[in-house]
Amino acid sequence: MKAYHLNGHAGAGGLVRADVSKPAPANGEVRVRVEAASLNYRDLLILDRASQGGFNGRVPLCDGAGVVDAIGSDVVQWQLGDCVAASFFRDWVSGPFKASYVPSALGSGTMDGMLAEYVVLPATALVSVPAHLSSVEAATLPCAGVTAWHGLIARGGMGKGDTLLVQGTGGVALFGLQFAAALGARAIVISSSDEKLARAKALGGSILINYRDTPDWDVALMKATDGEGASHILELGGPGTYDRSLRSVASGGKIVQIGVLTGFGPKPDLARLQWENADIIGITVGSGEHFAAMNRFLTDNAIHPIVDRVYGFDEAPEAFAHLRTGSHFGKIVVKL
Ligand SMILES: NC(=O)c1ccc[n+]([C@@H]2O[C@H](COP(=O)([O-])OP(=O)(O)OC[C@H]3O[C@@H](n4cnc5c(N)ncnc54)[C@H](OP(=O)(O)O)[C@@H]3O)[C@@H](O)[C@H]2O)c1
Repeated sequence: MKAYHLNGHAGAGGLVRADVSKPAPANGEVRVRVEAASLNYRDLLILDRASQGGFNGRVPLCDGAGVVDAIGSDVVQWQLGDCVAASFFRDWVSGPFKASYVPSALGSGTMDGMLAEYVVLPATALVSVPAHLSSVEAATLPCAGVTAWHGLIARGGMGKGDTLLVQGTGGVALFGLQFAAALGARAIVISSSDEKLARAKALGGSILINYRDTPDWDVALMKATDGEGASHILELGGPGTYDRSLRSVASGGKIVQIGVLTGFGPKPDLARLQWENADIIGITVGSGEHFAAMNRFLTDNAIHPIVDRVYGFDEAPEAFAHLRTGSHFGKIVVKL
């Protein structure tokens, strides 16, 4: 079968085509014929760090969807032909997070990912995908969708009448925006681009701020919300956005700490949290249980993920290059 491997070199040259043997499922495992895989910002970080060891020969990408193609013994929950996606953490099926799940993240230093024609996973690591989605759409769900769901809804309890701030118009942000629109929450979008803001408005964004033209976007946000601020914030930027997020949070609000778009290790002044009785929710994607709950919501609300562009398998390096430009709106997908 065909696959891509990381070859231990950092950057664009670190992704190589490989022909490897088709894996067979063992007891309790399922083989999936991958139909589509999608990219996340994380995959750029992994590609850039691939020279630090441990990545050589690994299949990249945590996100993918496809069809059950072979079933090992003792698997009762799946049939041949079922449409499935893999959970981001192979081992986080349900219940609270445990640090021991971290090495089971797909497409990382320790686990192969989804940029291959076939993958074999434990039956418990798979989730049914919503019937109204194509495999290209379903491939976008495991990381960005589940992260937004876990942070905003499972942990954040966002609902009608709340106000959500999303930073940018990438994968996590647009899932957050679509969830807010479906729930009847008001959505504030900040973006580098007026054209992207116009598209975000069509998805339900109601307060739109260009953070290039308005670097003090927290001041603009407070003005636009009559001093109330945002009850929920998808904190995607890290050091470059955190202090403004803190100045944007409403009384009793929740900052969902997710992203590193401007780097790692924010050192924000947390005093305002105390004065506003606000919370920070730390998130690492989510479980299979979160994924299944999100899928029910997507089905009930007929939500289709926003796909920016679909590349062919041979064009996977171009898909990574496109993600790196930051010009995308929503998700970038590789179709197998
Ligand atoms: N903790 C977790 O479990 C978890 C899970 C998923 C993702 N993440 C993290 O969440 C972040 C987003 O991931 P993603 O895959 O959705 O990324 P993505 O699709 O690559 O989105 C990137 C977009 O973010 C916006 N952006 C960049 N710098 C910004 C800034 N300074 N202020 C506001 N917006 C900015 C840009 O949109 P515009 O052009 O519209 O400005 C850019 O196109 C990443 O840091 C990723 O590592 C963490």
